[in-house]
Amino acid sequence: MPATPRPLGTALPAVFPIGLGCMGMSEFYGPADDAESLATLAHALERGVQLFDTADTYGLGANEALLGRFIADGGRARRERMVLATKFGIVRASGAYERRLDNSPAYIRAACEASLKRLGVERIDLYYCHRRDPAVPIEDVVGAMAELVAAGKVRALGLSEVSADTLRRAHAVHPIAALQSEYSLWTREPEREMLPLCAELGTAFVAYSPLGRAFLTGALDTARLAADDFRAHNPRFQGAAAQANTALVDALGDLARDWGLTSAQLALAWLLHRQPHVLPIPGTRRRARLDENVSAAAITLDAGQMARIQAVLDAHPVQGARYPDAGWAGVEAKNT
Ligand SMILES: NC(=O)c1ccc[n+]([C@@H]2O[C@H](COP(=O)([O-])OP(=O)(O)OC[C@H]3O[C@@H](n4cnc5c(N)ncnc54)[C@H](OP(=O)(O)O)[C@@H]3O)[C@@H](O)[C@H]2O)c1
Repeated sequence: MPATPRPLGTALPAVFPIGLGCMGMSEFYGPADDAESLATLAHALERGVQLFDTADTYGLGANEALLGRFIADGGRARRERMVLATKFGIVRASGAYERRLDNSPAYIRAACEASLKRLGVERIDLYYCHRRDPAVPIEDVVGAMAELVAAGKVRALGLSEVSADTLRRAHAVHPIAALQSEYSLWTREPEREMLPLCAELGTAFVAYSPLGRAFLTGALDTARLAADDFRAHNPRFQGAAAQANTALVDALGDLARDWGLTSAQLALAWLLHRQPHVLPIPGTRRRARLDENVSAAAITLDAGQMARIQAVLDAHPVQGARYPDAGWAGVEAKNT
């Protein structure tokens, strides 16, 4: 059964309901393999994926450059099949996770030019403010972003990890096509305020880390994470918290097996069934996993199955914060 496209605001076409997160191709989850990543990007297009998600901070420009290479190799026809999303606002030194935030209008203009150059495109389809810099009022941030739309450098605007108040104020300045925050079986805070608000405003909710950064797939061995893997420093992946969370993943895995699904497919299908404006963007560097993940768009879970998943979640409360201390910088959506 073909998957029904999901809207991404009014300035962009509706897209295949599962996008591709490109971050892990360049940083955070182990070594890069550019050849396999480029093959995975091409395979994603063949499988009908349209929304490709990157950011200037991923690999400090390397991830955008990888996408730029992919686009250059495929020419205009390839570019036209993609809805290309990138982000600005996080400033890091080479090799460092610690960040400072910059949302000043001059920075936004310069960051946009740098992203356009690395991507090798004339226009970014969806440009997000990655993290809020509290020094700059959101009206000024969105004002500067709206000027990029007027100048033809950007088609639509997005915000990441903002509060409901910020989203409302931003949307009053310029339509916000997409709100991107962490949302998955083990991160459900957006259900309280952000999902209903997005539905009210006609803003798509783009769910990042929908596989819990691989934890929810059941395929991750937390004891074997390299020291430079982001997850080795994330409280949910450590010690007693990881052990408790493994019990949750095992129980979900039992359900998935009973239903002939993989754990990754269950995680993605569950998200798609929560609300019709949710667009998950699972990340993978590998074609086989891309196939597995994209297939989740065709899975139907009935009310009884959704209730059984909920019962498992109720029985296994998630342990540990979703970010280490440095990762909370600019995350307004902590409690919403
Ligand atoms: N706005 C923000 O602040 C923010 C923050 C984080 C992420 N993001 C975006 O969201 C995207 C997705 O999130 P994410 O990459 O953090 O996490 P994710 O999609 O939850 O998980 C990605 C991890 O899962 C593994 N994986 C993927 N499919 C799998 C499968 N079927 N079976 C087993 N393992 C599988 C991947 O490894 P392999 O590559 O080896 O397959 C990778 O390590 C990112 O790429 C990025 O574009 C945005």
